[in-house]
Amino acid sequence: MHQRFTADDAEDNGTTQTSPDSTAPEGTVFHHANDGRPLATPWQVATERSMALVDQPLADGYIIDPACGSGLQVWAHALTLSRPAIGIELDPARALASALNLRTVGAMSGEITSPWCSDSVVLAGDGLDAEQALTTALGQASPCVAMLQLDPARPRNSRHHDLSEMRPALDHVLDAWRPWFAPHELGPAMLLDLSPRLSTDQRRQVESMVDERWPGLRRTWVWTSRGRGRVDRLALWTGPLAADGALRRFVRIPPQLGERPFTVTTHHPTEPLKITVHPPQRGEHVSLLDAALVESGLVSQWLANVTKDKDLRWGVLHGRRPQLHHPHPLRLRPMDQGLVQATGRVVALYQGSLDDTTVQDVVELAIEHRFSSVKLRLATPPERQPAWQGALDRQLTGRSGDRQGFLAQHPNGHTLLLCVDAHNGR
Ligand SMILES: C[S@@+](CC[C@H](N)C(=O)[O-])C[C@H]1O[C@@H](n2cnc3c(N)ncnc32)[C@H](O)[C@@H]1O
Repeated sequence: MHQRFTADDAEDNGTTQTSPDSTAPEGTVFHHANDGRPLATPWQVATERSMALVDQPLADGYIIDPACGSGLQVWAHALTLSRPAIGIELDPARALASALNLRTVGAMSGEITSPWCSDSVVLAGDGLDAEQALTTALGQASPCVAMLQLDPARPRNSRHHDLSEMRPALDHVLDAWRPWFAPHELGPAMLLDLSPRLSTDQRRQVESMVDERWPGLRRTWVWTSRGRGRVDRLALWTGPLAADGALRRFVRIPPQLGERPFTVTTHHPTEPLKITVHPPQRGEHVSLLDAALVESGLVSQWLANVTKDKDLRWGVLHGRRPQLHHPHPLRLRPMDQGLVQATGRVVALYQGSLDDTTVQDVVELAIEHRFSSVKLRLATPPERQPAWQGALDRQLTGRSGDRQGFLAQHPNGHTLLLCVDAHNGR
């Protein structure tokens, strides 16, 4: 049996805690329970994702989230798409938090009496019991699901990110809700949030699960990043949500609230990238690019907008600092800046690696080449990094140098590249 709440009748009984969300309008406080806070989608990310759905042609009916947690994502959809939603949550205190958040979102938008809010329902109970859930929410079960939003729980600190670790399990959710989708010529609309670290093979497994139930259903893989090279969300959008035929999309959520996200999309299959290491060379350009963009497989599409160079060579593809070598500077537009950790021209080479015994040699090389600032952009032991960066900062500032730049590690592993920032030009 499911317990039913609405925005009207949810009573704060002290089992939830409130917490501000710095990405929501100022003063917004959401409810969470039983450590639900870190599981919740930040409001800015939730609303950006919902806004991307505004033009998608959904069937009539409800948005369903069968594992809704604190409900931030499902209420962002309901508000933005002006549609009632049903959130289902196994943990009763979290279900109550979700109902209180429905009221908060209704009140903050001034739309608490709009049908999307007043007809929305939260159920405490099992999101896999679809028929029972629809009956409790609506009085009867019928094929009324316009869109399924799923963000299953995953064990914290999991190393494997195995599909079998998701709760509820993806295949069980697909089977449970399959009979209840409202008919749509493009098939069921689903937004499936998966572990951001799924491998290519695991993504194929997800596609097989979908294909077994709805052969050939349209789909778009969407990587969402809030910067710092991290993939925050990896999701599969299906049916009407993939109506434009895109196969992959990368979405960079902007650092400032209110700015539009930056997206890169492809409608064509992407080619795997290859590593090509040439000997270190003065004069060539080195760029350390956003690791999430590279992981999404869309970096070549993006590069086509910022360089005409054909001779692009990847020195490093994995890890935090994917490294590209190219003959000419990138032509970055303001919106591209967030996707580049560092870019510049190699002006000097140092044979060796950075350690306590070589850091002074690097400082002297930087002085010789007129640097006033050099940032370390290479893997360093975290306990030594501040000392090495400090040695550069202390000895370079106040001298006559007029170049800013960075120090990178050539992929051969035994040469350091001293680079002048591209915008510095000299
Ligand atoms: C990652 S959280 C969802 C967070 C949500 N997207 C948000 O924005 O707040 C996943 C939730 O699924 C719930 N859950 C796991 N198995 C479930 C099931 N069988 N039925 C309903 N909820 C379930 C967990 O208790 C957890 O709160």
